[in-house]
Amino acid sequence: MAFPIHRPRRLRRTEAIRDLVQETRLSPRSLVYPLFACPGSNIKEEIHSMPGNYRWSVDLLVEECKSVRDLGIRAVILFGIPEIKDDVGSGAYDPNGIVQRAVRAVKKSIPDLLVICDTCLDEYTSHGHCGLVRDGEVENDPTLELLARTALTQAEAGADMVAPSDMMDGRVGRIREELDSHSFSDIPIMAYSAKYASAFYGPFREAADSAPQFGDRRSYQMDPANQREALREIALDIEEGADIIMVKPALAYLDIVVLARQAFDVPLAAYQVSGEFSVIEAAARAGWIDRQRTVLETLISIRRAGAEIILTYFAKEVAEWLKC
Ligand code: PBG
Repeated sequence: MAFPIHRPRRLRRTEAIRDLVQETRLSPRSLVYPLFACPGSNIKEEIHSMPGNYRWSVDLLVEECKSVRDLGIRAVILFGIPEIKDDVGSGAYDPNGIVQRAVRAVKKSIPDLLVICDTCLDEYTSHGHCGLVRDGEVENDPTLELLARTALTQAEAGADMVAPSDMMDGRVGRIREELDSHSFSDIPIMAYSAKYASAFYGPFREAADSAPQFGDRRSYQMDPANQREALREIALDIEEGADIIMVKPALAYLDIVVLARQAFDVPLAAYQVSGEFSVIEAAARAGWIDRQRTVLETLISIRRAGAEIILTYFAKEVAEWLKC
């Protein structure tokens, strides 16, 4: 029974009808806002390649988090730019490191805002890699110990969740073990499970000054050509105790989001990364696309593909748009 009985346009006629039958919805409650903490006070320094995003000293970061919460956003994820970087990334697991100080301050003034900590070494190592380096190689197993210490100090500082983004093998299990043996069995792990070696991280590396000083991250992050491997990575993370899984980047990897949603029953996050932000931003600034419509279209497509949670640098603005 086709036309003229069926007329799909009937349900598109007015805004009210379209609203009623909308299959996927965006809410600020499913967004996570990434923020960068830096040493000092009264610092709000714009990141050149990510206009509208800043490195915040802890005092101003707390104020920013208040406005984030007031917009209805439930969670932030914190990255740190340390005072000094060294070859073992000590700033990552210093109990008084930049992220640990930031979490303490934010949780003290806004206890109901979920604070997630990115658990990785690359922002803290002088060579910019996500692990210990020996003879030009990123060493897996010794790195796990440092990641476990990083997660533990983050939990001790009050983090509500830790998010390992390093792509070392076995890190979720090792972090779970460390948290559990220090009475943090209630702290969930959001694992960057299918994290690809992507050119879209470019602007973030400027923000965190974390571009690798030699080589690249292809010996630990995934090959963009691989799809089945993502499912293996995710399955391993779940087995090791991941509570939430993540696909990263988002838009160029929506096939992975769809497959992950179908294959696994744990909450699924997708990270709309810095480069995804910056390409939209740049085109909008040039007047080539409608910024708001483009942003909302990308986010709804990520939700439609099956991610419940979206990490995005647009979170604040989107929350404002959704209010009216
Ligand atoms: C690693 C990490 C990176 C991002 C999040 N966690 C950088 C990388 O892998 O090079 C990228 C996020 C983005 O591009 O927005 N700590």
